[in-house]
Amino acid sequence: MSTKEKILSILNSDSLKNDFISGEELASCCQVSRAAVHKAISALREQGFLIEAVTNKGYKLESVPDRIDSDFIEKEILKCGEKCEVLAFDEIDSTNLEAKRQTADKELNRVLFVAGRQTAGRGRMGRTFVSPANSGVYFSLVYKPVAGIKNPAFLTAAAAVAVSRAIKSLYGEDCKIKWVNDVFLNGKKICGILTEGVTNFETGTIDVAIVGIGINVRNSGFDEELSKVAGSVEEIIAGEGKTVPKVSRNQIVSEVISNLLKIYDFYFADDKQEIKRTMDEYRKRSLLTGLEVCVNPIAGLEGKIYKAKVLDVTDEAELLVLTEDGIQKKLFSGEVSLKSSNFANQN
Ligand code: BTN
Repeated sequence: MSTKEKILSILNSDSLKNDFISGEELASCCQVSRAAVHKAISALREQGFLIEAVTNKGYKLESVPDRIDSDFIEKEILKCGEKCEVLAFDEIDSTNLEAKRQTADKELNRVLFVAGRQTAGRGRMGRTFVSPANSGVYFSLVYKPVAGIKNPAFLTAAAAVAVSRAIKSLYGEDCKIKWVNDVFLNGKKICGILTEGVTNFETGTIDVAIVGIGINVRNSGFDEELSKVAGSVEEIIAGEGKTVPKVSRNQIVSEVISNLLKIYDFYFADDKQEIKRTMDEYRKRSLLTGLEVCVNPIAGLEGKIYKAKVLDVTDEAELLVLTEDGIQKKLFSGEVSLKSSNFANQN
């Protein structure tokens, strides 16, 4: 860790409780001179961190930079040993749409499209994904494995695990996952995932995956209806009376994508142990396991809505259910809602 990183982590630490810390203390914690502390503070300010300095009190972190910064994200991902080209937009219609447009023009792999706001954010089943400015972060990863994609559900499930890991490491909070693509914190949806594929018409295989992830970070400003089922990470943590760690959207994206690329690398190298580890974590966080649900198969594939009990989630990310007729089924797509409260219309 560099002095700058050490100072940032001290200023942002829970134990400081958003209070001041003197330059002398910082110098002693980092075992550097006061001048080095001053230099690191200047560098952090240049990066956009707002750090208050008061005589006889010291330094206090006011806010972290929050404009989407492609260089920062690329470097952070690289630090975790992964490579990814990052293209950032303050505003765009939809990062999934932009990824598709660019994939049609040229061959892309490991390219990430990130936006601070979407004007036409897309959800599953033709729904919209509310994506206001200064609130969430919206990003789509283009991933093109050599051998094509046989099981898109796993890619989505892996994204839900990657988001949960990021929320745990950055905020210390444990998320739940609702099969297959929604991440929940304290009963509210904080993240939606939409995985789309680019199919090769000659071979019939899915060549490229576009994994779109939207995370509600703060200031959700959702209307009354949406607020019942969805929320933002910071508002939910604050609502529990806890201190909200200051985390930038750039850090969130970097952490999620570093985690996700690692899982994909293992998956496409057929590392069974890591695949199982990922899915064990998914199962541990599964919101539906053991519950009675309504299954709404995608129209045209399987017919009408039926009730079932969720038994488990398989290593291939299928939902294992037991129907009322006592038949076990493995679902690889479709809509599942809880019988008591309908989760289908979220965000
Ligand atoms: C859902 O909850 O139904 C899925 C929502 C997926 C939203 C993300 S935000 C980034 C990417 N771009 C989009 O238009 N959608 C996905």
